[in-house]
Parts: sequence; structure tokens; C-alpha cells
Amino acid sequence: MKIIFSLFLVFLISSFNLYSPQVVANDALQWPRIFSAIDVDPNLERRIASLLSEMTLKEKVGQIIQPEIKNVSPAEVTKYHLGSVLSAGGSYPAKRHSDIITWVAAANQFYQASIKHPNKRTAIPIIWGVDAVHGHNNVVGATIFPHNIGLGATRNSNLIRAIGEVTAREVSVTGLNWAFAPTVAVARNQRWGRTYESYSENPELVAQLAGAMVVGLQGHPSRGDLFADDKVIATAKHFIGDGGTTNGIDQGDTELDEKALRDLHVQGYVAALDAGAQTVMASFNSWNGNKLHGNHYLLTHVLKEQMGFDGFVIGDWNGHEQVEGCSAQSCSQAINAGVDMIMVPDDWRAFYKNTLRQVKKGEISTARLNDAVSRILRVKLRAGLFTETGNPLKNAFSGRAQIIGHPKHRAIARQAVRESIVLLKNNDSLLPLSPTSRILVTGAGADNLVMQSGGWTVTWQGDNTSNVDFPGATSILHGIKSAISHSTGVVDYHSQGEYKVKPDVAIVVFGEQAYAEAKGDIEDLFFKTDDFKILERLYRDGIPTVSILLSGRPLFVTEQINRSTAFIAAWLPGSEGQGIADVIFTDDSAGIAYDFQGKISFSWPKSADQAPHNLGDNNYQPLFPYGYGLNYTDQTNLPWFVEQ
Ligand code: BGC
Repeated sequence: MKIIFSLFLVFLISSFNLYSPQVVANDALQWPRIFSAIDVDPNLERRIASLLSEMTLKEKVGQIIQPEIKNVSPAEVTKYHLGSVLSAGGSYPAKRHSDIITWVAAANQFYQASIKHPNKRTAIPIIWGVDAVHGHNNVVGATIFPHNIGLGATRNSNLIRAIGEVTAREVSVTGLNWAFAPTVAVARNQRWGRTYESYSENPELVAQLAGAMVVGLQGHPSRGDLFADDKVIATAKHFIGDGGTTNGIDQGDTELDEKALRDLHVQGYVAALDAGAQTVMASFNSWNGNKLHGNHYLLTHVLKEQMGFDGFVIGDWNGHEQVEGCSAQSCSQAINAGVDMIMVPDDWRAFYKNTLRQVKKGEISTARLNDAVSRILRVKLRAGLFTETGNPLKNAFSGRAQIIGHPKHRAIARQAVRESIVLLKNNDSLLPLSPTSRILVTGAGADNLVMQSGGWTVTWQGDNTSNVDFPGATSILHGIKSAISHSTGVVDYHSQGEYKVKPDVAIVVFGEQAYAEAKGDIEDLFFKTDDFKILERLYRDGIPTVSILLSGRPLFVTEQINRSTAFIAAWLPGSEGQGIADVIFTDDSAGIAYDFQGKISFSWPKSADQAPHNLGDNNYQPLFPYGYGLNYTDQTNLPWFVEQ
């Protein structure tokens, strides 16, 4: 009877259109429960309660605000009791080539400012968050790993964990303690400019790798290294549906029913949060027309209540201003919806004042504010920020500059390159090459660490940089040169692919110019490059050619594939270009040194408009299916494909 009555009520409400879209959620639909590796600790909970009881309203409001380091001084951290700062993509203290001492000095200033407090008991250490999304990529000289799309191709969770470990260690060296990673987006439309930040179009693979990355970044109770001095807090981002927007538009609308939203987009969160990830970043996108930053149902009811997440939700870069009725300076809606810390890079002073007023007026309840602050304190306490670990001058790793870009770290990145590159074509078994060959190396990407690394490297979009911003890194060309340096082979490098002596083989490296969010969105998957002329000429000249594509997504490159004897999807491999030479050359005794292992984690398009096109779709007809990737035992000769 009760059920029938409630059904009737729901029908009644919806037919009067009072049922706001935010709540058009199917309450009967269960979201998965999280079993976090980090248990609730009653002692810690008591400490939170006691700290909270000592805090003034102003201190609480300051705790939930996160400005960008460029727009806040240490003195203001003290004055406003700010809980956090961030450095966004391409933001550094002082200058681009800041040394490690400068980073640590800045971290220490913010830290000291946060604990400089008349009431010692409420001196709460600050956390500094950074987009360390493929290594500590804001730091010149850091180890830069392949972007997530490449890691997806490795399918190797142990490797991904090791990458998380190295990233966390390099972040710790700079005195910082929070990485805005991993991105657990399931990119379903490769037109999206953030496709490369996604491990895969397949939620299961995203889940498999996301947990490993979190364990690497934070450590894990079972390994005895949870939040050790060389660990940082992880962030699963961007909750939820960022990879599912219509037409792959960045910050767009994810139009899915709740079941599809859950089944496609939540699995990475379950894995990351099970592994203990302590923060979740809210997403810029909408769900069926409603911005996530204002979505109480998803942030509070689903994530916190149903799934049981007890860490905190960080907003994205002014993401709150897109919520209806909000501005960058004011948004009680986002806080009420469940965002616990607001990333308000520049207008934070106004935001602080408005939030204070909104709490006083009851627009934001004290209970909600207390909940947000408690969550932040819980994470800070768990992460050891109240101990020496949180002190940039006492942490055992901070300041140890020689750890940045350490050879052991680079070796892991190089392994990741080897395992991530995917062999799409290898006609006539052209690869592996003999180091005794005469090789023409050409193409815009051959000696180009900028294209090799992509967005979120040194600068936000990865633009306005050059090879000098990558000390210690190795371009693909340099990797090739050193691979044959012990042999009788010859490398001729010419950017336009010209040659005096006919080479045995040519290697053409081409691909996308670096981009990041928004700028990277494209109309279709068509890819044309000036280097195509080189490829055509070499093809006409009858020179066997290996093409290496540097890209943040599979692209429609059938023309290029047709004119190449061998074709490699190398994604955005990062600082260790040598990993490519490791695989494409034989060893000294003419045997296979390393075989190809990479398998595509996205479906490869057959035409420019084949997006979205994902594993499991009806009428699934990609050029190369999800999971495709040749190795040296395959003797496959691909035909000339129809150029659609
Ligand atoms: C991105 C986030 C990033 C944040 C801070 C935003 O624009 O969406 O992924 O963590 O900026 O840099």
C-alpha cells in the first residue's frame, strides 16, 4: 500500500512538473558502495570534533577556500585561515625554471603561514594541490610519463602503480602534498580535447588502472606506506560524466539516463575510492542540463551517502560560477550541493566574504559548513599533515632536488613508453629495424619534446615551450641515434624528409600539436599534416617507411596508414623518447630486444565522423577494434584501406 501511495505521489509530482530535474533520479537505482582501504578511526573522528569545536566561523570559511598561488600571499593565508592553495597547469612559484629550493621555500612559506595562529590548537596546516597528471609536470626537469591514454594501452597495473609512486615522490620533493590525479574519465567521444587524460573508453579498464594509480600516489595500508613522506593525496576527477558529453564538448552536457551514467562513468571512482583516494573533484559538465557543481543528488546523495565517500569534494576551477544563480564570487548552491572546498583561483576574497554572509544568514547551514570542514580535517589528519610529514622543512623527501628526474624514475617512464606504443601495421615485417641500417628520420615530431609530451606539460596547454624546457629528456630522434650508436648504422635527420643518399628505411614522426582542455576539442577526427607530403614522396620513392603518430587520441589517418609500411600509435609518450627506439630496433645479436605490448584502449576510427564509436556499440565497425595491437610474432600484412 505504502509503495503504491509513493508511486502515486511521484507520478503526481512529476506530472505537475514540480519534480526538479536534479531529483529526476531513480531512487530505486543503487550506486555501488565503497569499501575504502582507509578505515574510519574513532580517535581521529574525536580529534576532528574537538578541532572543529575550537574553530571560529571565519576559520571554518577560510578552510573551505582554495586560491591559486599567484593570487594569494602567505600573509593572507594567515589572515583568512585558508585551508588550501593550488598551482594550476603551468603555474610555478617565481618563474618557469624555478629551482627546487624555490618550490620548497614557497611551500614552507604557505605552511608556516597556515600554522601561525594565536590559538595553537586550531593551527591547521595548509594543503597545496597541483596538476601532477603525468608526472610532476609543472616542474621543469621532472620525469614526464605518457599521458593516460598511453597508460591505458599498457594494461599494466603494476607499472601504473610505480608511476604513481614516482609522481608522488617528485611532488613531495617540492614540498607539495596533493595531486589532482588520477583522471578517471571514461572518454566516449574522441573529439573531446581531454581524451588523452582518459585511460580508456572502457570503464572496466579505467577501473583496473585507477586504483593502481591511487595506491602509487597515496600508498596503501596493506603496503605499510600510506601517506609516508614521499606520498601525496590523490584526487579522482572529474565527478561525474566528464567523458560522456554530447559531441565530446568540454564542460558540456552528459545526456544519459541514470543507469547509463552509473554503468559507464562511476567505475573508476569505485576503484579509486576503494584504494583510498581522499578527494574527488567535481566536474564542469552538466548531467541532463544540470551543472555537477550544483548537483546535490549526485554529490551528496549518491557520492557521499549511497557510495559512502568520507573524504572531501574539491570544486574545479571556478566551476561553481556555471551553476545557475551563481558567480565566481558567490555560490552557496555549490556548497549546499556538496562541494566541500571551492577552487576559486582569483576572486576568493569576495567569495570568502559572501560565504561568511551566507552562513550568517542561514543560506548555508552551520551543519553543512561543519560537515565540509570536518571532511577537510579528516583528510589532512589522515595524510599526516599535522605531523612532520606535512612540514616542508621536516619531510624526509622535500628539497632533495636530485630525486627530480632521477635516472631510476626515467627508467620507469621509458618502460611505460615501451609498453604503451601500439603497432598498428607492420607489413613485410619491416620492424624491428636493424641498427646497421641507413635511416632517414624526419617529421615535425622527431625532435620535439613539446609534441611528445602534449598538454599539461610545463604550461597548461603545453604550448609556448621548446626543447630547452625539458632538461634531461630524450626526443625520439635522440633515442634512435643512441640506439644505433654502437652499430654501423647511419641516421640522417632532415626535417623535410630530404636525402642525398637513399635510405634503407625512413621514420616519419608526426602528429598533433600540444593542447589541453577546451582548446583540444575538434569538429571531427580528420587529421591532415604537412608531413603527409613527405610521406607521399617517400612512398613514391619506394622507401619503406615507419610512421610514428604522436596524438592524444586515435585519429582518422587512413591515408597516412596506407602510405606507411609500418605504423605506430605512440600517443603522448613524455620525456623518455628512447623507449620507442628500445622497441623498434633489434638488439646487438639481431634478436628482438623488446616486443610491442600495447593494445589500443580506444576504438580506432574508420572515418572522420566515426565519433562517438565505442566498444559494445551496435554496428561496431572501427578500423581497428578496441584491444587491437600487433606484435613481432604476427605476420599480418594489412591491405590498402578504403580512404573514406
Ligand atoms: C581542470 C582540472 C584541474 C584544474 C586545476 C581545471 O581547469 O579541469 O582538471 O585540476 O583546472 O588546474
